[in-house]
Amino acid sequence: MGMTRTSALSTSLSLLLLSLAPACGPAKSSAGATPPAEAPSFAAQARRGQALYGEHCASCHGASGEGGRAPALVGESALPQAASGGQRDVEFRTAGDVFQWMKAHMPPNAPGSLGDAAYLDILAFDLQANNIDPGPAPLDADSAAQVVLHP
Ligand code: HEC
Repeated sequence: MGMTRTSALSTSLSLLLLSLAPACGPAKSSAGATPPAEAPSFAAQARRGQALYGEHCASCHGASGEGGRAPALVGESALPQAASGGQRDVEFRTAGDVFQWMKAHMPPNAPGSLGDAAYLDILAFDLQANNIDPGPAPLDADSAAQVVLHP
C-alpha cells in the first residue's frame, strides 16, 4: 500500500516536471530573440546606408564619400547635374536620377547586386551627408524622384 502511494506520487511528480520543462524552453529562447525592427524612417535608412556604403562603395569613393579612385559623393561639388562624359550618361536632376543610375551601374563589378532597398539606404546616407533633408519618412523610388538636387 505504502509503496504504491509513493510510486504514484513520484509518477505525478515526474509528470509535473515534464510538463514544466517545455514551459521553460520558450521563455529562455525569447530572451535571446532579436529586438523588434526599428521603425522605418529616413534616419534609420541613412544609418543602414552608412554601413552599406562602407562595405560596397568606400573603397573607390572614399571613406566619407570624399572621392578617391572615383568621384566624390559627398561635398560641395558632389553629384553634379552634368553627365560625366564617362559611364554616367544621364543628368542628376533629382535624387531619383542618382538612385536609378547607381542601381544600374554601381558597384562597377556587380551593378544592381545590392537590391533596391540597399541602394535607397545608401542614397539616404548620401543625401544626409550632403545636408539634404527630404523629411522624416523613408525614401522610396517615388519620393526620391521628388527630391530636387538641381532645379
Ligand atoms: C571599383 C570602384 C567603384 C566602386 C566600388 C563604386 N564605384 Fe561608384 N563610381 C566609380 C567610378 C569610376 C565612377 C565614375 C563613372 C563615370 O563617370 O564614368 C563612379 C560613379 C558613381 C556615381 C556618379 C558620381 C558622379 O558624380 O557622376 C555614383 C552616384 C556612384 N558611383 C555611386 C556608387 C555607389 C552607391 C557605390 C556602392 C554601392 C559605388 N559607387 C561603388 C567607381 C566605383
